[in-house]
Amino acid sequence: MPRVFGHLPRARLATLPTPLERGSELPGGARLWVKRDDLTGLGMGGNKARKLEFLCGAAVAKGARSLLTVGAAQSNHCRMTAAAGAVLGLEVHLVLSGDRPETATGNQLLSTLFGAQQHFTGSEESHWGELEIAREALADELRAAGAEPYSIPIGGSTPVGAVGYAAAFVELMQQCDAAGISPTAIVHTSSSGGTHAGLLAGRALWRDRGHHVPEVLAIGVAKGVNMGMPDIADLARDTVELIGGDRSVVDRADVRVDPNWMGDDYGVPTRAGDAAIRWAARHGGWVLDRVYSGKGFAGMVGVAESGRWPAGSDVVFIHTGGSPAIFTPGGAPPER
Ligand SMILES: Cc1ncc(COP(=O)(O)O)c(C=O)c1O
Repeated sequence: MPRVFGHLPRARLATLPTPLERGSELPGGARLWVKRDDLTGLGMGGNKARKLEFLCGAAVAKGARSLLTVGAAQSNHCRMTAAAGAVLGLEVHLVLSGDRPETATGNQLLSTLFGAQQHFTGSEESHWGELEIAREALADELRAAGAEPYSIPIGGSTPVGAVGYAAAFVELMQQCDAAGISPTAIVHTSSSGGTHAGLLAGRALWRDRGHHVPEVLAIGVAKGVNMGMPDIADLARDTVELIGGDRSVVDRADVRVDPNWMGDDYGVPTRAGDAAIRWAARHGGWVLDRVYSGKGFAGMVGVAESGRWPAGSDVVFIHTGGSPAIFTPGGAPPER
């Protein structure tokens, strides 16, 4: 890659490269591979470690003394930001939906352990607009108090954060080469869109250098991404530009979001998601969750069943993490 990402400030927070594991056959006969981004290490792992390397790199370069971000009550992104702050010696403030529980579980328990301050807004789970307004208000307060916050939008899905997944795309292609495979598709769960945009940025730059590239299929688990918000092509182009490439390498047709696996809403479990959690646990020992990776995996299985990928081809599922939510009330599928 040109200048690879070396000119951008980066905090070393993740254990990379993450493993690429060979799995069993998918319905329709494609071979499954799992990219273990649940094992990025930071604060029990997950996709946000890759984004936080660049977000926190920018924060430190700007002289920030605290990190501020926002998310749903059981946000993995918030938990991992809490861990990043602990590693870097930065105070962390988290704006979360819902009310402070009597007993913290899952991601909240971990964020408490990492020493973050959690600010509960009392708002509904996926009222992202309200949460963002609360983040901005808290940013003003922290600034006025001299805490010099670096304020990170929901999911860390800015061009700076997405650079982490442009780098991940290259990492994955190099691992596929080493494994002797040329995958047909890369599938992952999408919510705030930064993982998707970053992968597309990396893919476009890789293709521009003459490499064959797989399709990237995002399984949308939130209404926003399923309705085209944010604009993934624009976010990918901004990311390419930040890396030092030409934004025109990203084609709008590169953006593929499958909206059929969210169910009723963000965070509302689905039968297919629960079946996927059981299947993944019993075939690969992989721990998926009901909000993100379970629905993403269900989408991949469903698309495989539809015959989209030929028998014998290779399909990579990026396991983006989320396992701490399993240990919350209702976080795991009913026993069977
Ligand atoms: C476990 C998990 N998977 C997938 C995602 C989706 O990533 P993105 O927000 O970059 O679309 C998230 C975060 O929202 C997540 O926590």
